[in-house]
Amino acid sequence: MMTSQKQGKLICVGTGLRMAGQLTPIARSYIETADVVIAAVPNIFARKWLQDISKEYICLLGHYSACDEEGKNRRDTYRNMADTILAEVRAGKTVCAAFYGHPGIFACISHMAIADARAEGFHAEMLPGISAEDCLVADLGIDPGRTGMQSMETTQFMIYERKIDPTALLILWQPGLAGELSLKRFDTTPAKLQVLVDKLARDYPLDHPVILYEAATHPLEQTRMDTILLRDLPKASLQQITTLVIPAAFPLKLDQAIIDELNALPETMEISEQAA
Ligand SMILES: C[S@@+](CC[C@H](N)C(=O)[O-])C[C@H]1O[C@@H](n2cnc3c(N)ncnc32)[C@H](O)[C@@H]1O
Repeated sequence: MMTSQKQGKLICVGTGLRMAGQLTPIARSYIETADVVIAAVPNIFARKWLQDISKEYICLLGHYSACDEEGKNRRDTYRNMADTILAEVRAGKTVCAAFYGHPGIFACISHMAIADARAEGFHAEMLPGISAEDCLVADLGIDPGRTGMQSMETTQFMIYERKIDPTALLILWQPGLAGELSLKRFDTTPAKLQVLVDKLARDYPLDHPVILYEAATHPLEQTRMDTILLRDLPKASLQQITTLVIPAAFPLKLDQAIIDELNALPETMEISEQAA
C-alpha cells in the first residue's frame, strides 16, 4: 500500500563541538545537498563554513534578541526558532537544521521541530552528533561505566528535589546559567553559585575536587580542564560553554543482601521454568 508523505522534509544534524573533524559524513552530505540549511551555531568560523557549503543558509541566532522584549523569554525564542524551521518544511523544501554538538542533547528546538513536522505528516529525523559529554569523556579520561553517571541541567538540579548518588559521576550542564529563573539572562552570579554549592554540600564534602570543563571549539583554542574545590565555585569564572564535572566522592558500596540473593539462585534455569 502506498503511504502519502507530504513533500518537505526535515533532517536535524549536529556539527560536533570542534568544527574540524567532528562532523559525520552523513551530516555533511545533508548540509551540502539540502535546499536550505537552518542553523543556531554560535561559533563564527563554523557558521561561515556552513554558509559556504550550503545552497541557502538561514541563521537562527537573531531570534535570541527577542528575550529582551517585555513578556518574552528563552522559551518564546526556542518556539520561534522551531517555527522558522517548520515554515521552510511546509514550503516543500528539504531542510537541514544544524545545531552544535549533538542536535538532540540540551537542544529542545530540534525535538520541537521534529515533533511538529511529524504531526503535520512530513518526514523528519535526527542524526546523532558529538556532544560536550562525548568530548569530556575523551579529554578528561573518564569512563562513565566505571561508577555510573548522572547528567542534568544545573538549574533543574537546583530547583527540583533530586536524589544524587555521590558514588557516581555527576555532570552538570549550563552551570554558567545556574539559578537563572527569569529565562531572559545568559549568566549567573556568585550568590546563585553559592546556593548551588550549598545544595551540592548535602551530598559532597566542600573540599571535594570538581572540574570546570570547556572543550576547545577550534584548533587554536585550549581546552579548559580546571580542577577547583567545590567550596570555591562561587569565585570561579564560568562561561556559557562551561560544563561542571563532579567525580564520585565515595567508593561504591556492595549491596550484600542482593549478592546473597543472587548467590542463592541456581546457576541455570530449572527444567520446569524452561518448559513454561
Ligand atoms: C544548550 S547546551 C548544548 C549542548 C550541545 N547540544 C551538545 O551536544 O553538547 C549548552 C551546554 O552544553 C555544554 N557545552 C557546550 N559547549 C561546550 C564546550 N565547548 N565545552 C564543554 N561544554 C560545553 C555546557 O554545559 C553548556 O552550558
